[in-house]
Amino acid sequence: MTRLRVSIRLRLDGLFALIAYKHFINPRPILSPVPMQSTSIYTRDRCVTGIHGLDEILRGGIPYGSTVLAAGTCGSGKTTLAMEFLVRGALAGEACAHFTATEPSVKLLENIRQYAFFDMNMVDSGLINVFDMDVLYSWLGLEKASFDLDDVHALIKSIVDIVNTIGVTRLVIDSVTTLCYKIKSEQLIRDFLFTLGKKLATLGCTTILISEITSATENAHWSSFGVEEAIADGIIVMGDAERMGHLLRFLQVVKMRGTAHSRAKHAIELTPLGVMLIPMLKWGASTDKNSRWGQ
Ligand SMILES: Nc1ncnc2c1ncn2[C@@H]1O[C@H](COP(=O)(O)OP(=O)(O)OP(=O)(O)O)[C@@H](O)[C@H]1O
Ligand SMILES: [Mg+2]
Repeated sequence: MTRLRVSIRLRLDGLFALIAYKHFINPRPILSPVPMQSTSIYTRDRCVTGIHGLDEILRGGIPYGSTVLAAGTCGSGKTTLAMEFLVRGALAGEACAHFTATEPSVKLLENIRQYAFFDMNMVDSGLINVFDMDVLYSWLGLEKASFDLDDVHALIKSIVDIVNTIGVTRLVIDSVTTLCYKIKSEQLIRDFLFTLGKKLATLGCTTILISEITSATENAHWSSFGVEEAIADGIIVMGDAERMGHLLRFLQVVKMRGTAHSRAKHAIELTPLGVMLIPMLKWGASTDKNSRWGQ
């Protein structure tokens, strides 16, 4: 009896060993290999930003309908970049909207019109529509310190209505950080950004959400509440690097769903003709060797 048990155990052990050998040690495909068939490569349509150097980094532009977080330290050029994004769209005949929460629209326009690339006629003709968030809050009766679920839904609805009515295809919220300070729970911020992003994407609107951060270097968070970066389709980081007593502006694309892109740091210049991005080759972007704008 004992010998029989040992013999059965040995046979079972052998069977398990054979199964293990077949499937783990020497794995073989269960199905015979399918010959590779040539298929046409699908690429998403792009929203061409028109910003010098950025479209090359993004291999043609931002995938249409994306929500991109432009996270940057103070004075890093967030508003200028976002405004140029709208100007380039307006020049192509697109309707654009800018929701300003950090500075009054009058001040914003006074500052930005000093750049030669900006033309006030775009505002006068309704191609670039600038909205003060404060005014929007008062229209909606949301002049309060914090927003609940109903308030958040009312805000989403009003932004989506504006986008729908004007036919906006490029939208900027400057900044989403200031806006989200009014939304007290992390879950509500998540719902707000997710729902807004989804509705704007459905309308074919490409959105830049400006996020204020205190550090853009290692271990930095790309948002104040920690949820914006997870919800966003793309993250563009802007910050300063000190070199020999000078603060140099830089930009880096951290993620962009739906496209390959360079992740190298690029220097930024705010010129009268617009934002210019230059690869920081000297700064160790070794991946840039084979292409003008990096891998
Ligand atoms: N006409 C101009 N030409 C070139 N650079 C300018 C001009 N006007 C302002 N600047 C630079 O741009 C900076 C402000 O850029 P911008 O407002 O886009 O930055 P930001 O990241 O939005 O700043 P904030 O954190 O205050 O919102 C100024 O600090 C200044 O260095
Ligand atoms: Mg700004």
